[in-house]
Amino acid sequence: MTTGAADVLAIEGGTPVRTKGWMPWPIFDEAEEQAVVEVVRSGKWWSVEGGKVREFEEAFARFQDAQFAVCVTNGTAALEVALRAAHIGCGDEVIVPPYTFIATATAVLSVGATPVFVDVEDESLNIDPTKIEEAITPRTRAIIPVHIGGCPADMDGVLEVAHKHNLLVIEDAAQAHAAEWKGAKVGAIGDMGCFSFQASKNLNSGEGGAVLTNNPHWADQVWSVHNVGRVRGGRWYEHHVLGANFRMTEFQAAILLCQLRRLPEQTEQRTCNAQKLSEMLSKIPGIRPPRPDPRVTRHAYHLYVFRYNKEAFGGRPREEFLKALSAEGIPCSPGYVPLYKERVFLNRPISNDLCQLSRMKDYSSLHCPVCERACAEEAVWLYQNMLLGTEEDMADIATAIAKVQKAFAG
Ligand SMILES: Cc1ncc(COP(=O)(O)O)c(C=O)c1O
Repeated sequence: MTTGAADVLAIEGGTPVRTKGWMPWPIFDEAEEQAVVEVVRSGKWWSVEGGKVREFEEAFARFQDAQFAVCVTNGTAALEVALRAAHIGCGDEVIVPPYTFIATATAVLSVGATPVFVDVEDESLNIDPTKIEEAITPRTRAIIPVHIGGCPADMDGVLEVAHKHNLLVIEDAAQAHAAEWKGAKVGAIGDMGCFSFQASKNLNSGEGGAVLTNNPHWADQVWSVHNVGRVRGGRWYEHHVLGANFRMTEFQAAILLCQLRRLPEQTEQRTCNAQKLSEMLSKIPGIRPPRPDPRVTRHAYHLYVFRYNKEAFGGRPREEFLKALSAEGIPCSPGYVPLYKERVFLNRPISNDLCQLSRMKDYSSLHCPVCERACAEEAVWLYQNMLLGTEEDMADIATAIAKVQKAFAG
């Protein structure tokens, strides 16, 4: 077989498949500008006086098929507030997947409880419900399924085991705005659901978060914890539970209201492009595009995660593939490491206080093989803004991957 100039990899001095950029993120126009100016001029910059946070809470709850929403400062705070609202703390255990952002597990530590890691399913990289039961102990209080990359976790499986063992389910939907499991949007399928509006997210105000629920009791508890332990309708200096100031500002909510209007169309666009991309990638040896469970009626595609099999790439490790693909003009990432391998979980104890000592497990001999394989060898991430591009953009991604495959396979 002859090798043409177009086949020479960019990393070896060839011409990259792509030199132009990708869809910028965030996307905004005068609507966001005016919304912020309006808040500035109103002089009502906090939610206690203004109405934007309240308005966004109602709109977001409606959008996400939930009855109640409480906005908070960020997604990490949303998880902490939900855990505190449920009185989860010292001595309690909370089951989490290891394939997620650090905050899913450190929020558990921050309230004094112990994260217990349960391996993920091979296809979705979400918590494997068939492995939860063996991790349950008399101290287990809750499960936090994460809808990673915007792909809903198997909520049927999670809820079944939770109901059997009387455990709370707190969804980590930080990456899953607009995602649906069997036609219901995520966030209030379990007892509570936590969202992030940090800058990279599909719904974004720089920083921000929310807790959703269908249960008025949890809604009140969350509201109290996020508002320094106050109770709705109570006096200003009247504090019933241990809380803190986790309130969102009016500026964030004003931007979120505008961004929320853009979300349905953007979600549709990501879905459409993800499907086209998957079709193209399925033809490349050694590449496994995402194949969501049929019960996933909407994948939010915060991340487009495909799998790399080095056998079809001349045995070259994923890191070499990532370098070659980046050089072709396709931004990509290997993603997470298993959380229990992060130093924060291995440097024990992290403080001398007794509660800390009780909650730090020895994670050094833990193995979650499915997660470890995905993290070390297989997973490749593309970002949501790339899916907001054109069909030609998707073709560039596929062309670049095929080019690298051909070159590596030799
Ligand atoms: C799965 C997951 N959980 C929690 C968080 C924490 O959200 P934030 O960064 O808004 O604190 C993130 C943010 O990246 C996330 O991806």
